[in-house]
Amino acid sequence: MTTKSVEAESAQIPGGNTVLVEFEDGIAWVTMNRPEKRNAMSPMLAAEMVQVMNALEIDTRCKVLVLTGAGNSFSAGMDLKEFFRQTDQMSPPEREQIVRTNAQWQWRQLMFYPKPTIAMVNGWCFGGAFTPLVSCDLAIAAEEATFGLSEINWGIIPAGVVTKAVAQVMSQRDALYYIMTGETFDGRKAAAMNLVNEAVPLTDLRRRTRELAMTLIGKNPTVLRAAKTAYRRVRDMSYDDANDYLMAKNDQARLFDPEQGREQGLRQFLDEKSFRPGLGGYKRDG
Ligand code: ACO
Repeated sequence: MTTKSVEAESAQIPGGNTVLVEFEDGIAWVTMNRPEKRNAMSPMLAAEMVQVMNALEIDTRCKVLVLTGAGNSFSAGMDLKEFFRQTDQMSPPEREQIVRTNAQWQWRQLMFYPKPTIAMVNGWCFGGAFTPLVSCDLAIAAEEATFGLSEINWGIIPAGVVTKAVAQVMSQRDALYYIMTGETFDGRKAAAMNLVNEAVPLTDLRRRTRELAMTLIGKNPTVLRAAKTAYRRVRDMSYDDANDYLMAKNDQARLFDPEQGREQGLRQFLDEKSFRPGLGGYKRDG
């Protein structure tokens, strides 16, 4: 196992303050690092996260990005002091810049990230934290984690794009129940409501996340990128538009795929009869 802390790679990786990065066998573990504030997301964290995500996008040590939190919290949501009270004092342009930087990493970048992303919810997950959670492709939670759309409890609605994000993954009944009551729920309930893919005991969380990441690392990265981007894009298209886009996207992936996966897969199934595509992946060279 090759684990390197971000300090050792500080020349290549920005951050190292409110965001930490560790590399392990193709996985970039990206940790929101304000444990003393339960990883509440401050303007500084947002700015640092944009830098880190830009860097990891072109860093070959990152094949899958896992987003998690330091200590016993995934994230306690937006920083009520630094993101709300302090920005209330700023001029509109200054405030807009901070809001835009936050949106940049939480969904504009993360939702269409060129590499697979997994949210690993290790503890508290409140309010604004639902946006990066939903923006990640996949999510695994500790059964013991505590989730809450707590906005109603302190007099605001789930804004930014939190309401939009939960509407993508939760049913109307579940979303409105938790938006309107502000009640908390645990990781098991989050899995039952499809807010996360699965919940496992906290003691097994990292192992299971790693296992899932390694499955993704085993797939053709060019095709994986096209597949996840296509899913996000076609949701809001008509069938005709989706058909046209998907055919074009498929052609684009074939054109850009350095390992020519489609040709390898067809050859191995039809000519060599060496694999069954329904039961596993083609044998990738290298
Ligand atoms: N913003 C700013 N500071 C926060 C936040 C937050 N969202 N969450 C926690 N902190 C700070 C606390 O103020 C405290 O700081 P201090 O040590 O300087 O007093 C420190 O983190 C530890 O917090 P505690 O409340 O003492 O920790 P505890 O483990 O008892 O509780 C919990 C954790 C349940 C997460 C609690 O801190 C909490 O309810 N936080 C707010 C959750 C929330 O509703 N977030 C906003 C969602 S809405 C939105 O994001 C738009």
